[in-house]
Amino acid sequence: DVAALQGLRQGRLRIAAVTTTEYFLPDLLGPFARAYPGIAIELAVENRDAVVARLERGDDELAAMMLPPAHLPLARWPFLENPLVLIAPADHRLAKRRRLQLADLVAEPLLVREAGSGTRVVTEQAFAEHGIQWPARMALGSNEAIKHAVRAGLGLAVLSRHTLAADPASEGLVVLPVQGFPLRRQWQLVWRQDRALSLPARTLLDDLRSRLGSAPQPA
Ligand code: PGA
Repeated sequence: DVAALQGLRQGRLRIAAVTTTEYFLPDLLGPFARAYPGIAIELAVENRDAVVARLERGDDELAAMMLPPAHLPLARWPFLENPLVLIAPADHRLAKRRRLQLADLVAEPLLVREAGSGTRVVTEQAFAEHGIQWPARMALGSNEAIKHAVRAGLGLAVLSRHTLAADPASEGLVVLPVQGFPLRRQWQLVWRQDRALSLPARTLLDDLRSRLGSAPQPA
């Protein structure tokens, strides 16, 4: 109807996204962005704790993340699978093994994301569940910095599969076949239930739901 059209002719839509989603989220926004050129989209890309702080302040209407906080009244929609994998440089001595245990790896230096990263939280949880002590040798502040450091031979790391190229060998990396991996997690779109969603936000949600369906899809 006309009012709805007016509401979508111009406006602003603020979205927060954790760093692991920057590899596909802009693509997912494409159809909405093309259909409503008058809506200015602001996509903030930050780590998990920074996205939580943004949600607390109410900076954004929607947020894409793996580990939504329990202390806020959030509606949640799981929309994509997020497998986390253990990576090594392509020429690593363990790269040709057909099967590995975490215990085979703990003598290697481990690279992790910075404190505040959801990837780091899930990595540490997984090691604790396996009863593995694997202290980090180095913390790096982005997925790309980790990939470069792993390729340079500084250590191994756990990252979202979606931070890697379709063929990790093209980036000098290999996904190790470690028992218990990939860690199967999901990304969710969340929004505050104590605030009304704007028409642009509702329209984007409807668009994503109709294209992705109700079950989480592989990215
Ligand atoms: P992050 O993203 O590691 O950049 O925090 C993962 C997440 O929290 O979903």
